Amino acid sequence: ISLKPYNTFGIDVKAKSFGRFRSVDELKDLLRSRDKEIPLFILGGGSNVLLTKDLPYFVLKNEISGIELVNETETHVVLKVGSGVEWHSFVRYTVEKGWGGIENMSLIPGSVGASPMQNIGAYGAEIKDTFVSLEALRIDTLEMCTFNKEECRFGYRESVFKRALKDQYVIVSVSYELSKNPKINTTYGAIQSEIEVMGVNEVTVDTVSQAVMNIRRSKLPDPNVLGNAGSFFKNPVVSKEVFDELLRNYPDAPHYPQESGEEKLAAGWLIEKAGWKGKRIGNCGVHEKQALVLVNYGGASGREIYDLSTAIIEDIQSKFGVTLEREVNIL
Ligand code: EPU
Repeated sequence: ISLKPYNTFGIDVKAKSFGRFRSVDELKDLLRSRDKEIPLFILGGGSNVLLTKDLPYFVLKNEISGIELVNETETHVVLKVGSGVEWHSFVRYTVEKGWGGIENMSLIPGSVGASPMQNIGAYGAEIKDTFVSLEALRIDTLEMCTFNKEECRFGYRESVFKRALKDQYVIVSVSYELSKNPKINTTYGAIQSEIEVMGVNEVTVDTVSQAVMNIRRSKLPDPNVLGNAGSFFKNPVVSKEVFDELLRNYPDAPHYPQESGEEKLAAGWLIEKAGWKGKRIGNCGVHEKQALVLVNYGGASGREIYDLSTAIIEDIQSKFGVTLEREVNIL
């Protein structure tokens, strides 16, 4: 089966076998009856992978749906959400109820199950700020386990599921706590100015969500039109020494001080400064409006995109002494 419809880069590779599950029971059945010689790969929204070859895997597509209100107080609600739910439709569901906490993360591609996987974030918000717990099925024992926030070990685009527990669990639901008295956060980037352009009187969670959608639509390519997986690289966190050296040559480099004393740099800025923005190589290239995003102009192979990313990493290393890390999972 071709995986082209199941990855937002639109890469045409084949999977050895393929199945889909809509519930934990269906997932258990698939895991019990599978050929144990063939390794598994769990696919969510397919918005954070680059497929570079035919996959010798049993690819399982997560289609667990449902949004359940599990607790409500005067001030908060807790929602338990099926991991196959599309992230943005969950955001819109909460925004329409007037509940606050994830509105700044509108329009992030991918599924609810992927949100804790890499602690998704945008415009000053991260999943860890509203996360309560998640349920996951252990692949080898078929046991259901609960993970609280601490156990997930969230970091910048990081969690235990990308590290120590990689490939051992399937996340089946995620619970989030949202506020009925939302604290609006418009401090990041262009949100405030976008809201002014929108000209609304009262700023609600829906206003913020709409503003973020407008900004993202103006800068980030729509995967249905131009294949991509959002930010291809992480924003690099560098030591004070490396940062000071960079600042000597580029006093205007955007940077965000970290609690550790290190500095986070804007990979998009570095890539643009190095002259890559809008560059097209064969069937792929660097997006013209946001240099952190690599795009498939149609017919690119995963290998081509991977090679482009390697060329960028090497160039940034030699020009700025900074090592970029890929954010997208390479398969
Ligand atoms: N910049 C440039 N040129 C570019 C892109 C960015 O100079 O081509 C500069 C901007 O002017 C700004 C700085 O870099 O000063 C940061 O840019 P921006 O606010 O657009 O965000 P980002 O750091 O490039 C991160 C996330 C995005 C998220 C935005 C908004 C990562 C890897 N990426 O991008 O997340 O939407 O902030 O919060 O942290 C994703 O993870 O897939 C993703 C799209």
